[in-house]
Parts: sequence; C-alpha cells; structure tokens
Amino acid sequence: MEMALMYFIILVILSGLTEGSGVLPDGPLNAAVGETVMFTTTLTPTETPFLTLAWTSGAKNIITSNTVNITGPEYEGRITLFPSTGSLELRSLTLDDAGEYSVVIVPAGEAAEMGRTTLAVYEKVSSVSVTSFTEKVSNVSVTSSSTDLVEFSGSVSLSCSASGSSLSFLWLNGSSEVTASDRVQFTDGGSSLTIITVTRFDQGPFRCSVSNPVSTGTSDPVNLIISYGPENINLILSPPQGYFAVGSDISLSCSVGSRPPAQFKWFLNGDQLPDPGSELRLMNVNMSQSGNYSCQAFNSETLRSQTSQPSAITVLEKISAVSVTPSTNLPVEGTSVSLTCEASGSVFTRNWMKDGSDLNPTDNMILSDNNRVLTFDTVNRKDSGEYFCQISNPVSSDEAKYIMMVNYGPENVQIKVPNKINIKGTLKLTCSAESTPSARFTWLFNGVEILTNSAEYVKEEVEFSDSGNYICQAWNNITERTSSSAVHGLIVTDQLSGCAAGCIAGIVIACCVLIAAAVGGGYYIYKEKFNKSSQKQNTEQGENMYVNMRMTRK
Ligand SMILES: *[C@@H]1O[C@H](CO)[C@@H](O)[C@H](O)[C@H]1NC(C)=O
Ligand SMILES: *[C@@H]1O[C@H](CO)[C@@H](O)[C@H](O)[C@H]1NC(C)=O
Ligand SMILES: *[C@@H]1O[C@H](CO)[C@@H](O)[C@H](O)[C@H]1NC(C)=O
Ligand SMILES: *[C@@H]1O[C@H](CO)[C@@H](O)[C@H](O)[C@H]1NC(C)=O
Ligand SMILES: *[C@@H]1O[C@H](CO)[C@@H](O)[C@H](O)[C@H]1NC(C)=O
Ligand SMILES: *[C@@H]1O[C@H](CO)[C@@H](O)[C@H](O)[C@H]1NC(C)=O
Repeated sequence: MEMALMYFIILVILSGLTEGSGVLPDGPLNAAVGETVMFTTTLTPTETPFLTLAWTSGAKNIITSNTVNITGPEYEGRITLFPSTGSLELRSLTLDDAGEYSVVIVPAGEAAEMGRTTLAVYEKVSSVSVTSFTEKVSNVSVTSSSTDLVEFSGSVSLSCSASGSSLSFLWLNGSSEVTASDRVQFTDGGSSLTIITVTRFDQGPFRCSVSNPVSTGTSDPVNLIISYGPENINLILSPPQGYFAVGSDISLSCSVGSRPPAQFKWFLNGDQLPDPGSELRLMNVNMSQSGNYSCQAFNSETLRSQTSQPSAITVLEKISAVSVTPSTNLPVEGTSVSLTCEASGSVFTRNWMKDGSDLNPTDNMILSDNNRVLTFDTVNRKDSGEYFCQISNPVSSDEAKYIMMVNYGPENVQIKVPNKINIKGTLKLTCSAESTPSARFTWLFNGVEILTNSAEYVKEEVEFSDSGNYICQAWNNITERTSSSAVHGLIVTDQLSGCAAGCIAGIVIACCVLIAAAVGGGYYIYKEKFNKSSQKQNTEQGENMYVNMRMTRK
C-alpha cells in the first residue's frame, strides 16, 4: 500500500513538471526498432543510494525503486537501471516505446531531481541498407620494413595505414599499378605489399592509394635503395692497343655496374698498385711498367667484388740506329763474308731485302741468330747489290742499307783492235777485262812495258816498227790478281801494198810469229781467228812470214 501511495504522489509531482527537461537531455533520442537506447542522467555518480528512483513512460511505470523494485510488466527483462546515476537502458525497442520518458530521483537528504525527454523509434527501411556514416579517407601513409636493401637477398614489406572507413588499397610503382605475382604479394586486405626477392628495378617510388566511396587519399612516395653489383666489369685501354713506346701516356679505365658506386683497386701482375679510382693513368711509361694490369671493384653495401680480365701492356723502346756491318769491307769472290744487322731498341723482327725485294736465300747463304747474321759461305759476284736490313717492333721500325760489292777478276782480258793497220794510221788498242773493281791495265810490246794505267793504247802515225806483239795485262788491286790478254799481233802495212816492185823496198812487212807467250785464252782466241780466215789469207800470211824472215836475215 505504501508503494502504491508513493507512486501516486510521484505522478502528482510529475504532472506538475511543465518546463525544462531536468536531469535528462532535451532529445528526442532516436533509435530504430530492435535497438537499445540509453537514457543517461546528468547526475554525477554517487555511492549513496537514492531514497527513491522512479522511471515512467507516459502513465506507465517502468521501474520504481525504493525499498523494493517494481518493474512494469512490458519492461521485464528489457531494462537495466544504473543506481549510481539513475540512468536507464531500454532494450529491444518497439514502435510502442516511442513517447515521453520521465525520471524522479530523490537522493537522501536532498531535494528531488526530475528529468523528462522523448524517444523517437524508427522502423528500419530495409534490412541491408544500414546507413552508417562514412568517414573521409585521411592520413594515408606508407611504412617500409627497410629502405636499404641488397638485390636478390631478402624481401621488403610496405604497409599502408589510413584513417577512415570502408577503405580499399591500391599500390603504385611509379605511375603504374603494382600487380601480384610470385614475388609480389598483398596481405592485410591489400594494405601490405611484400616484395619477396627485391631487384634493382624495385626502387619505386611506391605510393599507396586508399579510397572509399566518398574519397581517395594517396601516401607520400617511398623509395627503396637497392644495392647491387659489382657486375660486368670491363677494363678499357686507351689507346686501345697492347704495345706502347717508351714515353707514352696510357690510360686504363675500369667500368662496372654497381650501386652504390664501387671502390676500385689496381693490380700489376697481381701486385696491388697504390692508385685508387676507376681510372689509372700511366704517364711517360718505361719498360719496367710492362705487365698484366687488372682492376677490382668492391661494393661496400653488397660486400661483393669483381676483378677484370688482365690487360697486357708491353712497353717497348723504339728501334733506332740500325746498322749492317760486314765481316770485311772488301769481300772477295769465293771467300766467306757475313753481314750483321744490329739496332738499339726492342727488337722483334729482322727482315732482309736485296735490291728492293725480299731476300731469297740461295744455297750459299745462311741466316742465323734470328736473322741477325747473313752469312755467305763463298760469296759470288752475283751477291753484289743493295742489302737492306729492316728491324721492327710493334711501335716502330727502321732499316739500314749496305751496298756489297764482291771483288773478283780480272778475267777474260781482251784486246779489241784491227790486226792490220796502214802505215801513218792511228793505232788504237783497247783492253777490257771482267773485274771488280775495274782492273788497271799495263801494255807490253814485244815483252817490253810501254804504258801503264790505261785501258787504251794510242799511237798516231804508226811506223813499220810498230808491227809486233802486243799484250795487255790487267791487275785488280783488291784481289791482287793479274791476268794477261792473248798476244795480239799487229801488222803495219803499206797502203800501196801490191803495187809495182819498185816500191817493195819501202814496205816493211811485219810478221806475227807465234812466240811462246801465246798461251791461254789469248792463244785460243788468236787461233780461232786464224781458223776463221780463208785459205787465201793463210797463203798471204805465209808469204808475209817469208818476207819477214827474209828481211830479218838482211
Ligand atoms: C532494486 O534494483 C536495483 C538495481 O537493479 C538494485 O541495485 C537493488 O538492490 C534493488 N532493490 C531491491 C530491494 O531488490
Ligand atoms: C594521423 O596519424 C598520426 C600518426 O599515425 C596520428 O597521430 C594522427 O592522429 C592521425 N590523424 C588522423 C586525422 O587520424
Ligand atoms: C616497378 O617498376 C619497374 C619498372 O618501372 C619494374 O621493373 C619493377 O619490377 C616494378 N616492381 C614492382 C615490385 O612492381
Ligand atoms: C719506370 O717508371 C716508374 C713509374 O713512373 C718508376 O717508378 C720507375 O723508377 C721507372 N723505372 C725506370 C727504370 O726508369
Ligand atoms: C700476363 O698474362 C699472360 C697470360 O694471360 C701470361 O702468359 C704472361 O706471362 C703474363 N705476364 C706476366 C708478366 O705475368
Ligand atoms: C785500288 O785502286 C783504286 C783505283 O783504281 C783505288 O781507288 C783504291 O784505293 C785501290 N785500293 C787499294 C786497296 O789499293
């Protein structure tokens, strides 16, 4: 009864409440059918229990809490009362729950508090369209598990974060979209990108583009630094050749694919040189700098290194002062002679030429000591000529000339003359010989020396006394040999030969007598001449001989 009385009193009080909403918010509170609504008072929570707490909806008691709790039948199991603030939770709303709600709170020893608000309950339009508020995309950012990577060793994960709801993710690599593959994977609903084995081409920039139905946001770009190499090392010589003259400047440059740029070391025949850098400059080189050069590249990030193929450099002295020295300055036919070809510089090849063409060594020639010495076993006059010795190496070439004159003779000494000459005529005898150097001639008349040092014997206005035996002697001052011509008989005749007997007295007939001197080639030629003569000539000769003998007897 007491309870019923109280309830009545409250109703009276509430009906008196006309203004303001008291300890409850103005409302209306909005909620959909089936949902839960919370009527929250503005009271600060208190430990001390309220004397009385009463919630009503319109005229209906929801709960009245005093010494006992009385819950309205239609609210059984649907409400929770919060004793410290007097707030009320109402669940499983129906359309009938819409309406006014009031609360009366009587704290111990204080004035009663009151509150009033309204609740609007809506039916859901459709079971699928839960119209929830869509937050704009913001704060899109990408974080990377690492930005310094080594090619082919390890993976990298990029994750994208963003504020907002209903987000979908898209990854960009430069300006193109990243697509999944065996080495590119997406996880966490596309917000994470994992590159399994990075390559140098995966440097990005990578960006994450996040979107929902109402907006789009894109992250700042993330660049990956992927180290690789060294690889494809290549050593280039400039000028591009293997042989250099002493004093040349040579530049060697080493190129390599590497990120970050490689550090270089240089080696000569395996020994490290002090020079750093990708280019090695050798200035004014000398021969001791010849050898195999190589470069080595080292990448301090990948800790890998690569060494080039060796490049051979040969520094050579230029050929100079080529000379051909004969074993004797006066080679004599039939003796042994050698020519030696020398030069200063780095000699690679010697090549002999004779009279403008490559030397064709004949049986009597021997080339020895790598063509340094050309030896003539027994030198022949045909070996005379202009000899060239050409010495070359890959950086230069030079040659020397030697004119060899093989001395020989004299041989084949001959007198060219008429056999007969008229008195008072001019006698001109010419002697020839095969000889190098030219022979010196000496003339003998009937065994007596009449002229030296001349190939010609000239006598104007010959007398009968000039008839007789002429011999020419040839002398070679190098071979120191002498050779004589055949005896040449000369007859000085009278122009009127065969005239009247009165003039016979004035005619001296010289006769050629074959004396002991007629030997050798001279005799042969002489004899030949006679053989060719006609029988008539022989007869004449016989007569001449007879006349001569007669005159000698006189
Ligand atoms: C009334 O209900 C409140 C909240 O559920 C509870 O704390 C209190 O003990 C109840 N009173 C009685 C007498 O059952
Ligand atoms: C953006 O992100 C930063 C750090 O992740 C955070 O401190 C900040 O509150 C975020 N801003 C928004 C609008 O979400
Ligand atoms: C990024 O783009 C480059 C070409 O620009 C491509 O080579 C590389 O594979 C791409 N990386 C990823 C992870 O898509
Ligand atoms: C050759 O050149 C190198 C380097 O310039 C130098 O150290 C060396 O003494 C030279 N050798 C000779 C023999 O000149
Ligand atoms: C340089 O290398 C070549 C082979 O590549 C070798 O025959 C030669 O002996 C080497 N020279 C030096 C000086 O080591
Ligand atoms: C040989 O004679 C020539 C002249 O005919 C002369 O020039 C040369 O000096 C001579 N040689 C010797 C070795 O006597």
